[in-house]
Amino acid sequence: MGYKTIQYKTEGRVGVITLNRPEALNALCDELTTELAAALAACEADDGIGCVVLTGSKKAFAAGADIKELQSRDMVGLYNKDPFAETWEAVARFRKPIIAGVSGYALGGGCEIAMMCDFIIASESAKFGQPEINLGVMPGAGGTQRLPRAIGKAKAMDMCLTGRMMDAEEAERAGLVSRVVPADDFMDVVMEAAESIAAKSLPVAMMTKETVNRSFEIGLTEGVRFERRVFMSQFALEDQKEGMAAFAEKRAAHFKHR
Ligand code: HXC
Repeated sequence: MGYKTIQYKTEGRVGVITLNRPEALNALCDELTTELAAALAACEADDGIGCVVLTGSKKAFAAGADIKELQSRDMVGLYNKDPFAETWEAVARFRKPIIAGVSGYALGGGCEIAMMCDFIIASESAKFGQPEINLGVMPGAGGTQRLPRAIGKAKAMDMCLTGRMMDAEEAERAGLVSRVVPADDFMDVVMEAAESIAAKSLPVAMMTKETVNRSFEIGLTEGVRFERRVFMSQFALEDQKEGMAAFAEKRAAHFKHR
């Protein structure tokens, strides 16, 4: 499929989706979120893909929802044709591992889409923020829920109420990003992480993602019980036999279900 507002390519078992509206700092217009959802559906359906990287340009991951498009929206229109349910949540619903590679601005919906990914690797140039309050609205794509879970109430309130930006170093200290990488090495490090994940057993990686995500939905006792059931079920996989045999035989594992 030919995309206009994103680029999509595969590198080995990694699907790389690059947001590509340079003229608007990758602002997330309807066409872009629709194309993003379509690319993710293609990655989900492709057995050759074990991990996805979602990234933008050097200057911007995404500067938020497209304000010029949002400007004319009304409540009934948004409610009746919920853009989040239709396209934005495709990232949160995506079942394979997905890494956000953030360079430059990740603001508003850009920060929210990055937080829907499994983890964020940031270039040292990255800047995160939820500036919606400056536009007379609040975050609407998960920012008020995912940000406090990621960085705690104090910083999340600070970010959402003042609308200020957080640099990469502060974001790492706060736990919003997993790693900060020098700008020159940034994409190499992101791809290395993605390739390493894509080499694992795909069902095991997907079950791991599902189980970690469960921890945000349910209590500890139920969460541990869920983990135990999934863990035990993995002993029915050939990949468990292969992984443990490879360790005992001092060789690299070759997982069948990749
Ligand atoms: C539409 C945008 C945009 C956006 C930038 N542009 N952000 N267009 N929506 N979110 C456009 C500008 O209008 C401009 O186009 C071009 O991109 C370059 O931007 P500049 O502002 O000239 O660049 P700069 O001075 O470097 O400032 C960068 C910036 C600033 C600090 C990131 O652009 C900015 O504050 N952007 C808005 C950030 C924001 O408020 N995001 C939250 C959006 S609401 P022209 O044509 O003038 O050259 C949101 C809600 C989520 O995300 C809920 C889901 C619906």
